[in-house]
Amino acid sequence: MSTTAKVAIYGDDTHAWGLIEGEALLTLAKLPDNSVDAIVTDPPYGIDFAGEAWDGADIRQVAGSGGDRLSAGEAFERWTAVWAAEARRVLKPGGHLLAFGATRTFHRLVSGVEDAGLEVRDQLLWLYAQGLPKSRRLPGGLATTLKPAYEPILLARAPMVGATTRNLQAWGTGAMNTEAARVDGYWPAHLTLSHASGCTKARCTSECPAALIDAARPDRRPSRLFFCAKASKQEREAGCEPLPAQSVKLYNGHHHPARLRRNTHRTVKPITMMRWLVKLVTPVGGVVLDPFAGSGTTGIAAVLEDRLFLGIEREGEYIDIACARLTHWAASAAQRAVLP
Ligand SMILES: C[S@@+](CC[C@H](N)C(=O)[O-])C[C@H]1O[C@@H](n2cnc3c(N)ncnc32)[C@H](O)[C@@H]1O
Ligand SMILES: [Zn+2]
Repeated sequence: MSTTAKVAIYGDDTHAWGLIEGEALLTLAKLPDNSVDAIVTDPPYGIDFAGEAWDGADIRQVAGSGGDRLSAGEAFERWTAVWAAEARRVLKPGGHLLAFGATRTFHRLVSGVEDAGLEVRDQLLWLYAQGLPKSRRLPGGLATTLKPAYEPILLARAPMVGATTRNLQAWGTGAMNTEAARVDGYWPAHLTLSHASGCTKARCTSECPAALIDAARPDRRPSRLFFCAKASKQEREAGCEPLPAQSVKLYNGHHHPARLRRNTHRTVKPITMMRWLVKLVTPVGGVVLDPFAGSGTTGIAAVLEDRLFLGIEREGEYIDIACARLTHWAASAAQRAVLP
């Protein structure tokens, strides 16, 4: 983190967003009680992702500051409970939290959030089936990990005041916008599918989960489920033109060379996915908070869905990227708003 923290605020007639460069735990502590309608976030996974301190060493340091000797899993769970307690406090009663997790540490994320006093409501799956195996190959056809094919997403809710209808009347939160989030007219499911990267409009690849379900159930089209591919290069980079291009290794492994990118963030979520999630849990006109904002995709989704957004991110470089992307997408949303 730089010595002078960056803050960016934007507002026009129809949209408003803010970004704060800061440590999530400390910045959350400064927000008022019951001030946000939803939290949609992709927090660190506690798996030492790409050797980043924020995904390992820092978490263990914060969690172990009381002097306890904790395993990596225990530390991640305890750290999660700390930010989730703040999340619970700043959420309005009945406000929802959606948090992405890693398959290896998801149980700790869920327990930490539950220990902080939020109610676990569901587990959503984003099945993208286009990950690459990260395992080293050992002699004799052996390996130590499977190929990643999905991401779990926790759905939790802050405690309500009274029954659902009373809470809804008092705060506007407590229920989801299932009607607005319908998929081809159908009730939204907790499973999201993605076409594989090689699919075209005309033809799916043999690995495509949508095609596989299609083949298994010829009587029913899988289009009743929400489809969302991973973010394309074009989508990641849109709005980043003013930023310098840097050489980044977006994926691990020697067969993935470094590439020149302006958006250097390595875990950019697809906008379509985040729009659907934001729409599902945020009341119209409500405030969405992302305490681990990264390159700002939750914010872009909020702006495009006409919700207000506040993002916290500790890396100045990512704040710049999020700011550039949000500026770009807010301009397109504002243009859309004035169109007849
Ligand atoms: C998985 S990424 C989020 C990516 C985001 N969903 C996107 O589409 O760009 C998590 C982010 O949290 C940030 N982060 C990690 N620990 C943090 C902390 N304690 N406070 C604030 N931000 C933190 C990291 O720098 C990283 O950008
Ligand atoms: Zn397909």
